[in-house]
Amino acid sequence: MDSAPLRLSPYQDTSFDHGAISRFNAWFFTVLAGQINRYARLHKELAFDGIPPANVVELGAGCGANVGWMPAGVRLYALEPNRRMHDALRKTCSRAGVELVLLPTGAERMPFEDASVDEVVCSLVLCTVGDADAVLAEVGRVLRPGGHFRFVEHIAAPQGGMRGWVQLKIRRPWGWIFEGCDPHRDTLARIEAAGFTSVVAERRKFRRSPFWPVNTAAWGIATR
Ligand SMILES: C[S@@+](CC[C@H](N)C(=O)[O-])C[C@H]1O[C@@H](n2cnc3c(N)ncnc32)[C@H](O)[C@@H]1O
Repeated sequence: MDSAPLRLSPYQDTSFDHGAISRFNAWFFTVLAGQINRYARLHKELAFDGIPPANVVELGAGCGANVGWMPAGVRLYALEPNRRMHDALRKTCSRAGVELVLLPTGAERMPFEDASVDEVVCSLVLCTVGDADAVLAEVGRVLRPGGHFRFVEHIAAPQGGMRGWVQLKIRRPWGWIFEGCDPHRDTLARIEAAGFTSVVAERRKFRRSPFWPVNTAAWGIATR
């Protein structure tokens, strides 16, 4: 890889371990990574194809579901606060030959300088972060002008439909099981309102996924 490493500023370790439920999430996103990637294959191809082999920042990298989309030569700065996911993430990166810089912290405050990052990626994360607007503002701060924010997210189903109704009904238990995940967040609207120069995005359901409540989804590439 040709790019110099990013300069890291001091940061707060905001990682967590909620015991059994964090262990469950680490297990879930390790065991089902292949399957979830199949449901989201088209979304990820559209959003992640063309990532250059340079420094890439991934928000909520989990157990490494997106490592397979990283071209050879990437240096991956993975923000991941769930400590139970760290071993799986290290193993996935090591197997793929991806250089990993694991940052045990949330994406609301990233340890990168203003306008220093070319590529930020995430999948299924803006549904879960405590403050999605703060994370999007932070993405805007760290990206260079012309840099990309590539995302694949499940989003709120339209009001008035059955799925949207179910999403609202299951919000609390779903959020408890998946450590903060909101099945009914208007994530795409928030990205579109976050002040990027352009947002190319498409609403597209995850196909044949059994996780029916969260099959309303979008992929996109926002440019700073
Ligand atoms: C649904 S999982 C998705 C994991 C992975 N991106 C994937 O696609 O399999 C949500 C991830 O966001 C992480 N997360 C939670 N709060 C976060 C925050 N404030 N900043 C960054 N990541 C966060 C979780 O620990 C978890 O790994």
